[in-house]
Formats: sequence, structure tokens, C-alpha cells
Amino acid sequence: MKLCSTIFYSLIFLCSLLSYILFKKEKRRHKSRARLPPGSMGWPCIGETLQMYTQDPNVFFASKQKRYGDIFKTHVLGYPCVMLASPEAARFVLVSHAHLFKPTYPKSKEKLIGPSALFFHTGNYHACMRKLVQTSFSPEVTRKLIPDIERLAVSCLESWANGQVINTFLAMKKFAFEVGVLSIFGQLNKKYTDELKENYSILEKGYNCFPLKLPGTAYHKSLMARKRLNQILGEIVRERMENKLSANNLLGHLLNFRDEKGNILSEEQIADNIIGVLFAAQDTTASVLTWILKYLNGNPKLLDAVKGEQKAILESECGENRSLTWAMTRKMPLTYRVILESLRKASVISFTFREAAEDVEYEGYLIPKGWKVMPLFRNIHHNPEFFAEPGNFDPFRFENPPKPYTYMPFGSGQHACPGNELAKLEMLILLHHMLTKYRWELVGSANLIQYSPFPIPENGLRARFKKEI
Ligand code: HEM
Repeated sequence: MKLCSTIFYSLIFLCSLLSYILFKKEKRRHKSRARLPPGSMGWPCIGETLQMYTQDPNVFFASKQKRYGDIFKTHVLGYPCVMLASPEAARFVLVSHAHLFKPTYPKSKEKLIGPSALFFHTGNYHACMRKLVQTSFSPEVTRKLIPDIERLAVSCLESWANGQVINTFLAMKKFAFEVGVLSIFGQLNKKYTDELKENYSILEKGYNCFPLKLPGTAYHKSLMARKRLNQILGEIVRERMENKLSANNLLGHLLNFRDEKGNILSEEQIADNIIGVLFAAQDTTASVLTWILKYLNGNPKLLDAVKGEQKAILESECGENRSLTWAMTRKMPLTYRVILESLRKASVISFTFREAAEDVEYEGYLIPKGWKVMPLFRNIHHNPEFFAEPGNFDPFRFENPPKPYTYMPFGSGQHACPGNELAKLEMLILLHHMLTKYRWELVGSANLIQYSPFPIPENGLRARFKKEI
């Protein structure tokens, strides 16, 4: 009996050993078979960063894709990277194998925005913060903001139509910032709004500058502004807590948060998430709105049709002085498709960054641990296989829904944009008032693309607005 059990256990031991050796061998075989993707790593240290930020992004990424295929390597912003230009690869990184990749941002930027902002995180903390942000920007909540967003849109448009030439992008930034503040705080007194605006405009200048902390540099000024923003946000938080003001906006949700042990969020966590949302909401929305004006201006027939749609809403539903309702914003199919097509054509977020948390094999290629991984939204949006004649501005293509993972202006997966409904709503509202009551002409050339770092038309698209009625 004893001999039997010894033989039995020895056999089990031998089988386990054998499977372990085979497993290791198989893993080694896989590893050795996988090779780095094709591509060029550019100059020592700087790699191909300059080309990426100075060339037309359509040319930089598309020429690489043409030369190397949908997966290629490069070296940008000080890191080796693998760029992925197919819907399947984007899905692999952002959705099906998202656990193998973590979000990654330059440390200097993380410091300015605040390390507790949700998009730097994964796991439980990210899931909790994301739930709060998603609830705060859900259609149920944002639809109640329509009258206030409308008020902001009307006031911005009036200020632009003063006969002066404006920088459209800067003007749209002002609008997007104010909508951001409204959706985060609800009603906020003017003193705080002005202080936030002033300091945020200094802070944002540091996002993409050289991170030198010496007094006088843009980065140092930006760090100082971030400290002041903490103080302002601290004051607002304390005021809301003293007055026991509980509200259905982002700040209200952040203040009411309790984790499973009953812990509340720290002031830093609240501030970092607020600054994070302002960062995510402002330039993105403003650059898309700027492109919409440019595209409509270049398509007079389409412009007439969109104006027709908006004027019909004005005449049939609200009359001149009545407010827009949620139902009316759902009856703007052509304007909505103009927004979708502008998001595709401009692809203001051309790509996103992740970092491989371990060695990953994809399609026979090795993505080494620590390498950056960039799903290239722009290339996918400009691939004629998915969007016929991608260089044409054609909103009617969205009469049929795009194929899965071919259209990702708001990303995909765990980190997909929770503000996308708000962004589209505020664009519809601004366009409604702009198209029914104003006309605009472009001033000077707007054929080149400028990077802020989002792509925007040259000089922010200089334009002169006039009130029609
Ligand atoms: C047209 C305007 C916008 C565009 C094109 C846009 C695009 C995106 C994209 C592509 C991502 C995913 C990035 C990634 O996966 O790395 C993202 C994330 C995010 N966006 Fe937006 N966004 C816009 C407006 C907004 C607005 C208005 C808000 C808030 C009010 C917002 C809040 C966020 C936040 C908080 C995240 C991070 C989500 C997470 O990490 O879980 N965005 N956005």
C-alpha cells in the first residue's frame, strides 16, 4: 500500500515537472519567435518626436503605415513605442487586453494636473472615480444644464460679434471652459469663476513646455498657479460643506463619496479630479468646434442645409425667445452628423498612449514591457477601407453606423470619454444659436494646421462674426 502511494505521488510529481518544463519551453519558443515590429527609431534620444509634432499628422502616420503596415515601431517623446493602426489592434489594447496595458502620461504633466486624477489610474480607485464622473455627466444630469449652457452660448456669441476679428479657437476655449465649470460646480459665484479661469490659463501653459522648475519659466509659473488653484478649490469645498449644499454635479458627487470602509476623498483627490476634468474637457471641445466652422465654411451648400435645419427648429418649436429643450436637441440629425464627421476628419485626439505592463505578443510581434503603445485613431478614421474618400467632408456617411472599432473619437474601453454626451450637447447648443442668428467670414489664410498640441486651423481660425437678426 505504502509503495503504491509512493509511486502515485512520484507520478504526480513527475507529470507536474514535465508540464512545467513543457510550459517553460513553449513560453521560450513563443518569446523567441516574436520579433519587434518593423519601423525606424529616428535620432538618438529625440527619436522621431520633431517629425511627429511638426509634420501634418496625416502625412507622418499615414506614410509610416503605408511603408510598414498596421503595426510599426518608432521612438517619440523619449520612449520606444509601438504604433497600432488597425481597429483590431486598438480593440486589443483598449478593450480585450486592457489589463496588459496601463495609461501613461509625462510625469511633468501628471504633477500639474494632479496625480489623483482618474485617468492616471487603473483598478479600484479608477473604477470608483469613473463611476462618479460618468454619473455626473450622464444625459439625465446634463440635460438639466441646457438652459445654462444656452445662456453661456448666447453670451459668448454676443461678445464675438463686435466687429473685431477673433481667434475662433481661443473664443471656443472660453465657452468650453465655462461649460466645464458649470458641469463641475453647478452655479458658482463670479469671483471663484474668474479666479479659476485666470489661474487655469497659467497652469495650462505648462502642460507641454519643458519641465524646468526655475523661477520665471513657464513650468514654474504653472506649478505656482496649480498651488493657487488648490487653495481656491479648497475654499469652494469648505463653503459647500459648511452650507451642506449637496448637488447633482461632479463636486457634489465627489463630496458625497464614501468607499467601502466609509472613507471620504481628500481635498487633493477632489482637486486633482476637478482639474483633470477641466483639462480633458476644454481644448478637445474647443478644437472640434473650430474645425466645424472651418469645414462648414468650405461647404456652402452644406452650410445652407444645416442652417435650414436649425432655422426650422427655431421657427416651429421655440420661436425666437424660447429656450431649447432636450427634445429639440434630439431633432438635429444633420447638425449631429456634421459633428460626427468633424470628429472623424479632424481626429483632434490623433492617438492615445498606453504602456505595456509586461511583454506582450500581438500578431507575432513582441511589444516589450515598458514600451509605449499608441492606438492611432486618426489612421483608422482616415482609412479608405472604413471611410470612403476619407479626405472628403461628408456628414452623410454617418447615415449608416461605422463598423465596430473604426470610429473612436472618444476612445474605447475602460478609459473611454465619460464627457462625450456633454461635449456633443454643448456643440449642438452653440451651433444652434450660431447658425440661426449669426454669420461669419474667415480672415486670412487657414489652410495650414497648427498644433496646440491638438491640431487646429492656422492662427486658431481668425474670423469676424456678425449678428443677422
Ligand atoms: C469633443 C470633445 C472631446 C473629445 C474628442 C474627447 C476625447 C477623449 C478621449 C479619446 C478619451 C480617452 C483617452 C484614452 O483612452 O487615453 C477621453 C477621456 C476622458 N475625457 Fe474626453 N473628450 C472630449 C470632451 C470631454 C469632456 C467635455 C469631458 C468632461 C466634461 C471629458 C472628460 C474626459 C475624462 C475625465 C476622460 C478620462 C476617462 C478615464 O480615464 O476613465 N472629455 N476623452
